[in-house]
Formats: sequence, C-alpha cells, structure tokens
Amino acid sequence: MNMLNVALPKGRLGDKVYELFSKAGYDCPSILDPGRKLIFENEETGVRYFWVKPSDVAIYVERGAADIGVAGKDILLEYEPDVFELLDLKLGKCRMAVAAKKDFHDRHLKTLRVATKFSKIAADYYLSKGRDIDIIHLNGSIELAPILGLSDVIVDIVETGTTLKENNLIVYDTILPISARLVANKSSYQFKSEAIKNLRQKLASLLEETV
Ligand code: PRP
Repeated sequence: MNMLNVALPKGRLGDKVYELFSKAGYDCPSILDPGRKLIFENEETGVRYFWVKPSDVAIYVERGAADIGVAGKDILLEYEPDVFELLDLKLGKCRMAVAAKKDFHDRHLKTLRVATKFSKIAADYYLSKGRDIDIIHLNGSIELAPILGLSDVIVDIVETGTTLKENNLIVYDTILPISARLVANKSSYQFKSEAIKNLRQKLASLLEETV
C-alpha cells in the first residue's frame, strides 16, 4: 500500500496535532507507546508518522522525505520552504512580537539593535517600517539580550507572556499572529493527490465542527 508519510512536530504541539489527525480517522495507536522510537505506521489507515524537531518539519516536507507535515507559520515565513500551505490547523496559537525593557522608547536616533532567532521576519518587519536595524542572530534565550544590553529589543514568539514577565520585559509591538499549518510536498501533492486532499478535507471538516 502507498503510505502517506507525515512529519509531526515533536512536543506539546505535535501531541495535539496527532490527536486531531486521529479524530479525523488517521489514528496510529503505536504512537502512544512510551519510548524513543521516531517512526510509527498504521497500514489500515495508510499513514506513517515521524516525530521531527518542529523547526525541521518544513525541510522534510520540502525535500519529499515526508509527503505532508505540520509546521508553524513562523517557520514558513522565516525559511520560506518550497511547499504548499494547505490549511490553518488553529493549533499552537501564539504571536510574533517585538519586546523590550519596560523603560525602552525608540527615539529613532540610532540603528536599532534587534536580537532574534527569526532574522528574516525581523528584517522584513523593520524594512516595512523604514527603520534601520542591526540584527543579532541568537539561537535561544533571546530574552537575555536586552537585559544584558546586547540588544535594544527582541523579536520572538510570545505565547502566554510568562517568559517576558519573568524577565521584566514587555510586548512593544505585535508583528503577526502565528498558528500551525498543514503543508505538503509539491510533487506528493500531485502524485498522492487523492490521499492528501481527503486528509485535508477531513481535518477541515473537523475544525469547522469544533468552532
Ligand atoms: C518560545 C519563545 C519564548 C517562549 C514564549 O521559546 O522563544 O522564549 O516560547 O512563551 P511564553 O510566552 O508562553 O512564555 P520555546 O519554548 O519555543 O523554546 P526555544 O526558544 O528554546 O526554542
């Protein structure tokens, strides 16, 4: 049988995504086994799931190692993978925001130092505002940068706001809302078109029911 290869983002979001796929008729009970296995398949429903680091999902899908996957809009905007975006799953909702120390005011006098993991999103945002910036690309713990004087602001994901609050930072501006998207490899979308469209349709109907 021609299986549908699905890259799921490992972690809390992935658990919710699997739950949704399972409700839509694509369950795979072995995935719930505790352990460190990364691939699971169910011949009956025709799916093979892999747990992938969330920021890598789009790479697996772009290169065809997975036919479909679920990736955050943040990753799609930042890396612009060559994939089809099929559906907003309305999961993993958060926002991309500019944050700074409470006493920060941008007086537009000098180049703004921006620390971020999302260099492209930050560059596009400030370009649209005509603001001159210096990007400081970091890989994590971005909140430290303004505290230590490494940057004036950060561009990062805010979900509950707890990380900012605990580090005495505030949201200065919201750039855009983020949520998880169903994406497909471009040639899989042609060659496994029926299977992918069926899955998309079932997920879409399920999401409509729950609204
Ligand atoms: C994100 C982000 C913030 C935090 C925001 O990090 O970079 O640090 O979540 O969430 P909150 O508003 O609910 O506090 P993530 O947990 O994805 O880890 P990472 O930065 O190490 O990738």
